[in-house]
Amino acid sequence: MEKTNNRRQKRLKLKICFLLTIGFASAMAWSFKSKSYAKDSDIKIRAEIATDKKDNAGSANYLDEKKSYMSDADKKREEESANAFKEAYRVFMHPRCMNCHPSGDVPLQGDNSQLHTQGVKRGTDGKGLYALKCANCHQSANVPGENMPPGNPNWHLPPANMKMVFQGISPAQLAIQFKNPKLTGKTLQELIHHVEEDKLVLGGWNPGDGRTKPPLSHEEFAMNFREWVEKGAAIPK
Ligand code: HEC
Ligand code: HEC
Repeated sequence: MEKTNNRRQKRLKLKICFLLTIGFASAMAWSFKSKSYAKDSDIKIRAEIATDKKDNAGSANYLDEKKSYMSDADKKREEESANAFKEAYRVFMHPRCMNCHPSGDVPLQGDNSQLHTQGVKRGTDGKGLYALKCANCHQSANVPGENMPPGNPNWHLPPANMKMVFQGISPAQLAIQFKNPKLTGKTLQELIHHVEEDKLVLGGWNPGDGRTKPPLSHEEFAMNFREWVEKGAAIPK
């Protein structure tokens, strides 16, 4: 009786060992396969970039040099991504954008980004505290004349639980913030969409009488932001 039990146990152990080995081996094979797959597609993408840029066009030993070239292309891509971000950063830091992305809970005003007068505050939803709602003064379009409130449908600050601060932060800090969906509520693709289409963003280029426009055109700005994301969303130094 005991002997058969022992034998059964032994067989069971062998079985378990066998299954574990198979499991391990297939996991290894799978990870190896997916790794080599990623490498192939990487190489393909980078080869396309290389031919795009005509850096390596017509080079006979291109294939032999592929590996060492790859890292150069990678470096270049990262640098281009970071530079595109630095361009876009100039717009984010412009008063037309920063005034609604303050570090505190009071919106900013004017080209010197002073605190908003009249005791206006963010409120939980960004639409103003108590009776001082943004929409009381900010209509759906600009009111003509200097020092009149700019308008936009839905004029408000980001809400208190997702402040999206631009004021006082470096390019690296801003890039890190954009890459964290917990801080933006959006993926990078959704951020591209926001930068390209959002009415408050577009409003920066229709700021109302007496206000300056951001240093790039909206098109250039959106292009730089897209380039930053598509070339790997590098964190600028
Ligand atoms: C009237 C205030 C206001 C102005 C002006 C403004 N924004 Fe915003 N911005 C917001 C609000 C509010 C949000 C939060 C998302 C939302 O509700 O659409 C936001 C979010 C964002 C986001 C992040 C997206 C997200 O949902 O987290 C980006 C990027 C952005 N703004 C860029 C800009 C740029 C660039 C400009 C200037 C051209 C600008 N904003 C001007 C109010 C403003
Ligand atoms: C009592 C009226 C009033 C209320 C309420 C009000 N604003 Fe304003 N806001 C103004 C006026 C007027 C200006 C224009 C000031 C100027 O140009 O000298 C202005 C300007 C601004 C600017 C500067 C725009 C720029 O491009 O420089 C921002 C940003 C702003 N308001 C955001 C808000 C937000 C966000 C709220 C709600 C939380 C709000 N305001 C509530 C009257 C108001």
